[in-house]
Amino acid sequence: MPGVFSDLDLSPNPLELARRRRLAAGGYLDLTSSNPTLQGLLFPPDILRAAADSFWDTRRYQPDPRGSEAARAAVVGYYAGRKPPLPLESDDVFLTASTSEAYSLLFALLADPGDNLLAPNVTYPLFEYLAALRGLELRPYPLREEDGWAIDERALYAAADACTRAVLIVSPHNPAGVVVSAPLAALSRLGLPVICDEVFAAFTYGVPHVPPLGALHADLPVFTLNGISKLFALPDLKLGWIALNAAARPFGPRLEVLNDTFLGANSLSQHLLPDLFALGMPFVARMAARVRANLDLALERLAGHPRLRVRPPDGGYYLFPAVSGWDDEETLALRLIDEGILVHPGYFYGDVPGTHLMLSALTEPATFAAGLERLVQAL
Ligand SMILES: Cc1ncc(COP(=O)(O)O)c(C=O)c1O
Repeated sequence: MPGVFSDLDLSPNPLELARRRRLAAGGYLDLTSSNPTLQGLLFPPDILRAAADSFWDTRRYQPDPRGSEAARAAVVGYYAGRKPPLPLESDDVFLTASTSEAYSLLFALLADPGDNLLAPNVTYPLFEYLAALRGLELRPYPLREEDGWAIDERALYAAADACTRAVLIVSPHNPAGVVVSAPLAALSRLGLPVICDEVFAAFTYGVPHVPPLGALHADLPVFTLNGISKLFALPDLKLGWIALNAAARPFGPRLEVLNDTFLGANSLSQHLLPDLFALGMPFVARMAARVRANLDLALERLAGHPRLRVRPPDGGYYLFPAVSGWDDEETLALRLIDEGILVHPGYFYGDVPGTHLMLSALTEPATFAAGLERLVQAL
């Protein structure tokens, strides 16, 4: 059958079947959630209500292919306050429906079908699907677990060939938690455009702040991706952005055509954005503190366990501990479902030696604490 994903097996995998059975048999503690709205983290509704109020009387559909000027100015202000600042003009910002849509636009901007992109291994699993939609190959570059999941720069450099069009960096990384805090010589040597996903930038743990890669690498075209899904816990309001550093500006006019093709950014969410930045930061700080407290607890509970090796993340919500004594991640995850705990097996995130689990510290604290206890007992 023609068409993308036509050869994909769409039947539920054994973990999903086991999860459904366990749900029917009384439920489980879910330690995998990336959805703040289901973990008791709701952006203050009064701020949203007040900010939306002024939208209804003044609304006119006058779409700008880069997004509304006021919303873009708010994004510019946000990056001016980062450490180090990423200097932007409002025309350097493109508003999209989400970070995922932003990736898809950038893949079309930078590559033709048959070309390839360098992507981390382990990684956030959506890349495979986004690349397939554009007929692109993903070439993995390794993160070295023994080196705190740092990018293996030699392998990154070696992974490129004549058809490589861009490098994907996720910082803070999902799920390994590593932050790129200094320029990478391999990126400068490659000289390729870089797409840097920093959706977890507000969630710091081992580092004091996440430097925007576009500021660290003024020598390269860097497209910075972020949005309100993670930063403001508003995945349902669908707004993301692409910020181009000065070296990426030549791509702006063509990116404008691509963004104009969909005009995916919702007008109401664009209208809200200046108030989200102006009034939402205390909420962001509370949310980040909650994730940090969960990470503290998890590191304390898991660190002493003889079968677990867990590295404190630089940032993000996730832990990706290595488990000894189990060769098969799926068997382990199935066993844990039997014990009433849902975790992701490491292979959901790529292919690395050893056995790993993914736990999300976004989880509501009482559930997270109870789930950790069960996990420690079960292992
Ligand atoms: C690293 C990373 N990037 C992007 C996204 C998706 O963001 P959005 O909701 O803006 O598409 C996620 C969602 O989990 C993510 O983990």
